[in-house]
Amino acid sequence: MKRFVVSKWKKTNELMKNDELRAHIPKTVRMTKDSLLSMLHEYRMVYIKPDIGTFGNGVMRVEWDSALSNPYQYQLGEKARSFVNYDSMYEDIERKTRKTKYLVQKGIHLLKYQKRRFDIRIMVQKNLQKEWETTGWIGRVAHPRKIVTNYHSGGKLMPIEELLKDRTKETGKKHYHKQFKQLGTNVAKQLHKRYPGIKEIGIDVALDEAIVPWILEVNTKPDPYIFRSLANKAIFGKIMRYKRANQK
Ligand SMILES: Nc1ncnc2c1ncn2[C@@H]1O[C@H](COP(=O)(O)OP(=O)(O)O)[C@@H](O)[C@H]1O
Ligand SMILES: [Mg+2]
Repeated sequence: MKRFVVSKWKKTNELMKNDELRAHIPKTVRMTKDSLLSMLHEYRMVYIKPDIGTFGNGVMRVEWDSALSNPYQYQLGEKARSFVNYDSMYEDIERKTRKTKYLVQKGIHLLKYQKRRFDIRIMVQKNLQKEWETTGWIGRVAHPRKIVTNYHSGGKLMPIEELLKDRTKETGKKHYHKQFKQLGTNVAKQLHKRYPGIKEIGIDVALDEAIVPWILEVNTKPDPYIFRSLANKAIFGKIMRYKRANQK
């Protein structure tokens, strides 16, 4: 039984079968010259990413703003480039993506903390009763000049409570805790239907201005050690306990 699923496309398609989850997945298509252009004109800001990839490697933010003299722009790493027309931009993107399958996804305007974008990693594991349990969440704040929040791309780990402190009152806090928990187990159960070997997942979730959660991707080999940085040591302890039990 497959324990790990690497293709983002396959995982996204599995989640799309669930009505509730579908409402939380930004539109995602396979990248071609035509699909990137139509997604760009529809959403003005999209992310393109390798179907198989990690650590934010190869992920690019692509934008279109018809008011600019160079209306097409994309950023990879810390470098942004702009172009007078789509063809010249695509030619440049293609040089970097040619050998790999890419996906195009509607871009979510991530919330910011001190002018830096952040998103959330939610950990979901089979617990000691073999039931799905959401065991932790942590914020990841992007490096100021980067378009990805990954820890391995210079992102900074922070507790969500701190990141959302000015936006939610105590009641709101209870609400998003419940929402994260439910989203976590729903995603796990849906993927598990198709891939019953999966024992744990890490979900990358974006929050928009309305604090609506958007599922950016699901990892089947999530890094547990990022949770070591939380002040509440019980979270990391539980994550490792479940992890060890699942390895047996
Ligand atoms: N649709 C999107 N909208 C906004 N930001 C995104 C989007 N997709 C990816 N990102 C940013 O890029 C990061 C890396 O993308 P992700 O899909 O998680 O690939 P990887 O497998 O490399 O981690 C995300 O954590 C997020 O910060
Ligand atoms: Mg990721």
